[in-house]
Amino acid sequence: MTDSFPAKRVRDLPLLVPPAIPDVGPGPDPSVVRMNLNESPLQPSPKALAAAAEAIQFSNRYPDHGCTGLMAKLAALNNFPAENIIFGNGSSELLVTLAMASLNEGDEAIFPEPTFPTGLKTSRIAGATLVKIPVAETGENDIAAMLAAVTEKTGLFYVCTPNNPTGNLASEEALRRASQEVPERCLLMIDEAYYEFGAHEGGPDVLEILKDRKGPWAVTRSLSKAYCLAGMRVGYALVSGKEVRDPLNTLRGNFNISRVAMAAAEAAVDDQAHMRKVLDQTILERNRLTKLLAVKGFSALPSFANFIVVRSSGPLAPVQKKLAQHGILTQYMPWPDENGSLRITVGSSEETDKLCSVIG
Ligand SMILES: Cc1ncc(COP(=O)(O)O)c(C=O)c1O
Repeated sequence: MTDSFPAKRVRDLPLLVPPAIPDVGPGPDPSVVRMNLNESPLQPSPKALAAAAEAIQFSNRYPDHGCTGLMAKLAALNNFPAENIIFGNGSSELLVTLAMASLNEGDEAIFPEPTFPTGLKTSRIAGATLVKIPVAETGENDIAAMLAAVTEKTGLFYVCTPNNPTGNLASEEALRRASQEVPERCLLMIDEAYYEFGAHEGGPDVLEILKDRKGPWAVTRSLSKAYCLAGMRVGYALVSGKEVRDPLNTLRGNFNISRVAMAAAEAAVDDQAHMRKVLDQTILERNRLTKLLAVKGFSALPSFANFIVVRSSGPLAPVQKKLAQHGILTQYMPWPDENGSLRITVGSSEETDKLCSVIG
């Protein structure tokens, strides 16, 4: 008989729920400025919208569980073997299944701190001990310190580049060290949800670096950011081979990518010109936002993503509150000291102006 509901491994977890975001009717509440979720303010490619509209007519039929069309496109785009690409309902789902697949009760999982929380939460559910290593002052994962924390109990080594919430890229040298020094029995997981931004600005080629790795590895990516498809929930993992592919496929939910999402994703991947336009526009706006905030006394960490992290000489929690009172949502973080910092997603130029008019 069970002890009581819920199971013990779930009972002791802190309540962690996605942020409540006002969505009214068929779309988001237009009076609210969403600069808190690292979404794109831009619409998806018109070709993706047309493909989704076409696909919805066939919603009476289950989608292709193999995602063979999308798989072939991503294999060609990344020059990577199709059979080693696995799909998730957003890359979030893959962060969950990768942590579940790699950790036994009592293992240790190494993470940068702060970082995107899904892998941490799942590692706890899997019964692992979390080992959190502070990011460097400039916001990138401190891979040397993370490697120094490896023990014989380490089952998962998670790198996030560009890191959310701090925005900076891990260096090629640090990634090479991780590729070679993370033990062969341990999963090296590299979260590249903002891959397209980092690559566009000269970031290291993670897949090239991992070619020499002997142990298992997985690189997770998302169509939520540069492809503007956050609402569709499509992510993928590029993995080292069968040893990672098989457990991920075992854990994968049936038909976890909907027919509509898959059609939109295929068309979005085909429309690389639209994706590049999104990158260019976002980077231009990110630079403008950074400059305008500097004039008001807020300094930003280097960012290679669609958000910035700002600090000032005073506490940031009241700033977040004031913005929220004006309908502008941002993300406060209690990092790196008692003043904290504010993560601001790059929005449209109107949204930048609105934020700057309120902030100070
Ligand atoms: C670093 C990182 N990884 C993963 C995700 C999850 O993205 P999605 O599930 O939309 O693919 C996010 C979302 O913001 C993120 O910032």
